[in-house]
Amino acid sequence: MKAIAYTKYGSPDVLHLKEFAKPTPKDNEILIRIYATTVTSGDWRVRSLDMPFGFGLISRLVFGISGPRQPILGTELAGEVESVGKDVRNFKVGDRVFAFSSFGMGCHAEYKCMPENGMVALKPPNLTYEEAAALSFGGTTALDFLRRANIQKGEKVLVNGASGAVGTAAVQLAKHFEAEVTGVCSTANLELVKSLGADRAIDYTKEDFTKNGETYDIIVDTVGTALFSRSKNSLKERGRLLLVIAGLPDILHSLWVSLTGSKKVIAGPADERAEDLRFLASLAEAGEFKPTIDRRYPFEQIAEAHRYVGTGRKKGNVVITLEHNNKK
Ligand SMILES: NC(=O)c1ccc[n+]([C@@H]2O[C@H](COP(=O)([O-])OP(=O)(O)OC[C@H]3O[C@@H](n4cnc5c(N)ncnc54)[C@H](OP(=O)(O)O)[C@@H]3O)[C@@H](O)[C@H]2O)c1
Repeated sequence: MKAIAYTKYGSPDVLHLKEFAKPTPKDNEILIRIYATTVTSGDWRVRSLDMPFGFGLISRLVFGISGPRQPILGTELAGEVESVGKDVRNFKVGDRVFAFSSFGMGCHAEYKCMPENGMVALKPPNLTYEEAAALSFGGTTALDFLRRANIQKGEKVLVNGASGAVGTAAVQLAKHFEAEVTGVCSTANLELVKSLGADRAIDYTKEDFTKNGETYDIIVDTVGTALFSRSKNSLKERGRLLLVIAGLPDILHSLWVSLTGSKKVIAGPADERAEDLRFLASLAEAGEFKPTIDRRYPFEQIAEAHRYVGTGRKKGNVVITLEHNNKK
């Protein structure tokens, strides 16, 4: 099978199309023929090892000290089950599925095996493969953080960076939980953020949300510009600040803030649960959640997709499409 591989960390030029043996599913696994995948901010971070302050060494321990241990990037996929292991009960050949491989990566390939009890679920029928491929990275992250904050109906939620993969998901999910949502984004993305259901959109080039006197129950920071020191006065008493991206010192500081005050800071990697994938799929099927797709690139142009993602300006998700002769 074809895959996009890299053997050293660096610019998108380290990525090359390479031939690998087609994987064979173990007894408890399904083999997925991949029709669509994505390039996420996570792929860009792991490829370049451009990590938040304090995570350089930890990242090398996780992903490979001198070079990548897993040569194939990619955390999201959508496709069709081509074969199943002998113990598989929940999926059958021909099922249309989407999956999230997280730190395991390996989705920038024509095929991938996933354990049937892993992060894999049936594709919502009303979503294209491209849309389904983009369901999980931003969706599971936003969902996990909002749940850790115990979001309640009627609460005021501000999403800083409302136009990114996590931000576009956070706006839609907070609306699903019946919160009153404000999105912070650039001028060009105001309409997008409102179209996702935000009650209000603040243009960060014209207005500083920390200085307008408004206060929120929950602030979600997906950019790294709303640390506690800056946004604490915009949090209500018992407010929660969700640091989706933060350096190690800020995460340690968040523990201290949460222990000593009424306002809480929640940070660190998002948890992944297969049931969250199924929840996102059910919301998508009900028309309450739809991944925002910015650009699409063919598989062979994945390095270009990495270059675009690396600008930090994408709107929602960047999708990669794969051609198979027998695509249904
Ligand atoms: N904790 C976890 O488990 C976890 C999981 C997933 C991702 N992350 C991290 O979360 C961060 C966000 O991920 P993502 O995939 O959503 O990123 P992304 O899609 O690349 O975010 C890009 C968006 O951010 C907007 N943006 C840039 N500067 C901004 C600013 N100052 N204020 C408001 N918006 C701004 C950009 O639009 P404009 O430039 O036009 O404003 C663009 O739409 C990344 O750093 C990622 O590594 C953490």
